[in-house]
Amino acid sequence: MFDDLSIIILSAGKGSRMKSSLPKVMHQIAGRSMLDRVIDQAIKLNPRDISLVISNELEKYQQQIIDNHPFFNFNFIIQEQRLGTAHAVSCALNFYKESSFKLSSKVLILYGDTPLISAETLAKMLLAIDQNKICILAFENDQLNSYGKLIIDQHGNLKSIVETKDATDQQKAIKLCNSGVMAINSEALLQLIDQVKNDNLAKEFYLTDLIKIAQNHHYKTTYIKTSNQEVLGVNSLEELAIIEEITQDQLRKNFMADGVKLIAPSTIFFNYDTKIENNVVIHPNVIFASGVSIESEVEIKSFCHIEGAKIKSKSVIGPFARIRKNTTINQDVRIGNFVEVKNSIIDDHAKINHLSYVGDSQVGNHVNIGAGVITCNYDGYNKFKTVIGDGSFIGSNTALIAPVEIGKSAVIGAGSVITKNVASDELSIARSKQQNIADGAKKFHQQKSRNKKT
Ligand code: UD1
Ligand code: CA
Repeated sequence: MFDDLSIIILSAGKGSRMKSSLPKVMHQIAGRSMLDRVIDQAIKLNPRDISLVISNELEKYQQQIIDNHPFFNFNFIIQEQRLGTAHAVSCALNFYKESSFKLSSKVLILYGDTPLISAETLAKMLLAIDQNKICILAFENDQLNSYGKLIIDQHGNLKSIVETKDATDQQKAIKLCNSGVMAINSEALLQLIDQVKNDNLAKEFYLTDLIKIAQNHHYKTTYIKTSNQEVLGVNSLEELAIIEEITQDQLRKNFMADGVKLIAPSTIFFNYDTKIENNVVIHPNVIFASGVSIESEVEIKSFCHIEGAKIKSKSVIGPFARIRKNTTINQDVRIGNFVEVKNSIIDDHAKINHLSYVGDSQVGNHVNIGAGVITCNYDGYNKFKTVIGDGSFIGSNTALIAPVEIGKSAVIGAGSVITKNVASDELSIARSKQQNIADGAKKFHQQKSRNKKT
């Protein structure tokens, strides 16, 4: 789309109002960090390169960022001292000067803490700098706020941006605000950036000063407007939660539009990578963490937590089930209440209906796992595997001590503790023999009442 484009994402901010040890831009929205979200949109524009201006604290997340965007190379630029947005951009430009990377003819400057920005809007800005040197992304906000204000002349041209801290009362009342996003012709950027001074109340180098400087050079500057919502930034956990809600609402709407029935949408939470086919029904209070895909005609009943699982068609999950990472639930399986499944394959038509833990297991088709069956997969040091063959029946309250294999069509008596393999078609019972004592109960009560202290 824009192959002669360099993108600079400013992310060196301290984020101190988050009161969090996690750097601000690494906080997630629907399971994807704010920074990754901005990068996702940036990549859609097909830029030649993306430079991330980061703080020392973000350094240790570099590999994670790279892993989350395979097939793309990033320049990481550490801004040691945080002297303002123009200084952050200068640090990036110095990187280009000192390295073999060539700055493209168009430059887009984004913030890592403005996660709802869309590639469509950014594309419009880049088209606007064919005729202008700079394009600012603006929005209307009529409340008292601390944004930069756009000063527009009587012809509608953008003349300068005044930071609220430095604004007159009259300027403070201006509704047109700066989102921070800027598209700029790179020649103009290289020419003008060194002219930015820090002679303002905050003693910071303001990127927004570029507008006035460009005007002094008789360069054309312009702006486009977008919704308030698209440029919402995150400075606190409260603002993070607002954006989470907006994002979840959007995910819910998208799923419903695609034929996923949500009984109480506002109680269902998705991850950015959740995949669900149509004709799936999801009951209230269900949470999808990362890596879930669900085929059509599945029903997820209330209060389930599902992560890293593939659930194939016609299966019914829950209520109150927990499906954990690396699990495949094949077709027409029943997973009932208070059942936890981890790192397992459950084959077609199997039933695990009540109060079970199935971990590191392979459960064959048509297997019936009774209430309270536990795979004892961990001895405190290592994890071991349980294999249950097709058509077997595992009686209630059985403990399967892994590693253990149950053959096909075997039957395990209820309450067994199974430590040795069971072959196909075998019946296995491993519990102590029952003794019935004639009149034993009567004697018991007589003895007890005699000894009772009054
Ligand atoms: C900035 C804009 C303001 C705009 C607002 C929108 C300037 C001078 N002001 O103000 O007009 O309305 O954003 O939210 O640009 N950053 C660095 N290094 C620095 C300073 C900032 O990387 O030295 C990054 C921050 O991490 C953040 C972004 O730049 O992502 C904006 O910085 P911030 O200090 O929040 O700017 P504002 O005062 O909000
Ligand atoms: Ca800010």
